Amino acid sequence: MQTAMNLILLGPPGAGKGTQAKEIEARRGLVQLSTGDMLRSAAAAGTDVGRRAKALMDKGQLVPDEVVIEIIANRIDQADCATGFVLDGFPRTLPQAAALDDMLRSAKKQLHAVIELSVDPKRLVERIAGRYCCAKCGAGYHERFKRPEVAGVCDACGSAAFSRRADDTEEAVANRLMAHYKSTAPLTGYYFCKGYLRAVDGMAPIAEVAKEIEKVLDDVP
Ligand code: AP5
Ligand code: MG
Repeated sequence: MQTAMNLILLGPPGAGKGTQAKEIEARRGLVQLSTGDMLRSAAAAGTDVGRRAKALMDKGQLVPDEVVIEIIANRIDQADCATGFVLDGFPRTLPQAAALDDMLRSAKKQLHAVIELSVDPKRLVERIAGRYCCAKCGAGYHERFKRPEVAGVCDACGSAAFSRRADDTEEAVANRLMAHYKSTAPLTGYYFCKGYLRAVDGMAPIAEVAKEIEKVLDDVP
């Protein structure tokens, strides 16, 4: 079984990329690299990049390719990524995918699989509308599908403070879905043609999706 792996999770907003990236991180020790989380941290820290990104993210628009490419290029070079990573939310355009190919080639790293989570678009809005997270540690929950074990208390850190994302508004979600189908959906064909694409049914309950992903990863040569 392959242990050190570099993976991409593809899927529209609300498909479960973040949820499953955290599961893979916990099970296999691969580092979750979420460009959305990195941009939100930069925005919270008030950096120039963060402030400019937040204005676009709050409207549900994509941040320019060069910004996210630079963030990922710096991140995958760090020591903790040497034993593998799961890209969550990157690449999201064909130029980002081409830039990732270059980065991996020059770092002498390999891509092992691209897992696409497919979910009926009608269900995505329901998932996003019910999503919230721990305001202290960022652990993710859902009002119906992933409640904390003790109501109102984060399973991971015990905090009782929760928050919702600023881009989970109706208007921003519509723009995010549009950006996905226009700019990100072509990556399915890109990775299929390169032989990396593995489709997983993202409509199943969280634990079942995780099991399906494990089966796919067990088969990675
Ligand atoms: P990002 O943070 O990546 O958001 P996104 O792609 O819109 O995806 P989400 O995080 O909303 O969904 P997810 O698939 O992670 O689902 P989750 O696991 O939370 O990006 C935000 C913004 O940053 C972008 O709009 C853009 O502006 C910018 N950005 C980021 N990367 C960029 C890039 N590369 N280029 C340009 N701009 C970029 O699950 C959703 C909910 O459903 C949760 O509550 C969860 O508990 C629940 N759930 C999950 N799985 C299941 C299941 N199987 N059954 C039932 N419920 C489930
Ligand atoms: Mg996410």
